[in-house]
Amino acid sequence: MEIIPFDDRDGQIWFNGELINWRDAKVHVLSHGLHYASSVFEGERAYSGEIFKSREHTERFFNSAKILGFKIPYTIDEIESAKKETLAASGHDNAYVRPVAWRGSEMMAVSAQHTKIHVAIAIWPWPAMFGADSMKGIRLDIAEWRRPAPDTAPFQAKAAGLYMICTLSKHAAEAKGFTDALMLDHRGYVAEATGANIFFVKDGAVHTPMPDCFLDGITRRTVIQLLKDRQIPVSERYIMPDELDGFEQCFLCGTAAEVTPVSAIGERTYEVGDLTRQVATDYNDLVNRRGIS
Ligand SMILES: Cc1ncc(COP(=O)(O)O)c(C=O)c1O
Repeated sequence: MEIIPFDDRDGQIWFNGELINWRDAKVHVLSHGLHYASSVFEGERAYSGEIFKSREHTERFFNSAKILGFKIPYTIDEIESAKKETLAASGHDNAYVRPVAWRGSEMMAVSAQHTKIHVAIAIWPWPAMFGADSMKGIRLDIAEWRRPAPDTAPFQAKAAGLYMICTLSKHAAEAKGFTDALMLDHRGYVAEATGANIFFVKDGAVHTPMPDCFLDGITRRTVIQLLKDRQIPVSERYIMPDELDGFEQCFLCGTAAEVTPVSAIGERTYEVGDLTRQVATDYNDLVNRRGIS
């Protein structure tokens, strides 16, 4: 597989208020964000030239920064315009949108009160997060790392630091031949995958974990609404791992993952059933602004 490094591409990146050449969008090695994870980001998708739920993502971006104790030095409207400008400059209609904000180099220790806040927005094509075959269902391992308790890490923030255990879990799963990992939470309940929320289907009803220690994804909330619109019962509740054997279908959802069926968790297998396909189609229709039949 040919890998094109992300720092060596054509195009432009919005960097602290202006569009600059992609390859010039650099940070100094002594940046607080790099050493102490004082960084927040967003993951968004544009469909046919329009970013899905753009403002909701920007609001979460600002809230993530607030939770980490810093203020993005722009208004929500300014970031909204910057995303539009960057998308137009990218020449892509369908693309992934990555705003990121981080603390700079003015201080290099745990305390970072006087650091400058930097903001960048990059946009690139990203067709299917789990590859072209993902609608056949992906396989998940169960991670050894758990989602931390709400008094251990600020789970509502889309903060870089929270992804350390996601990368560890994903790499461990990949080493065993799985595509991704299902993470349990600090109590042992089923939580989410390493970059997407999880849903289960049984007897025509849908079950999904309570988002009380992991990100309540924008896609998760969208999918719940789509299910309710179809009068499909949705139960947000605590799910124990021993219930995994009893579910018939399973799928992940997230901005990058969209709706991705899961065909196995460890040794358990799931069918890629009608309900999962219906949700995937409904989500696809919604983001592409096609009427839902
Ligand atoms: C850990 C994690 N959980 C859930 C999600 C889904 O969130 P959203 O639907 O807002 O993209 C993501 C993706 O951003 C994520 O990284």
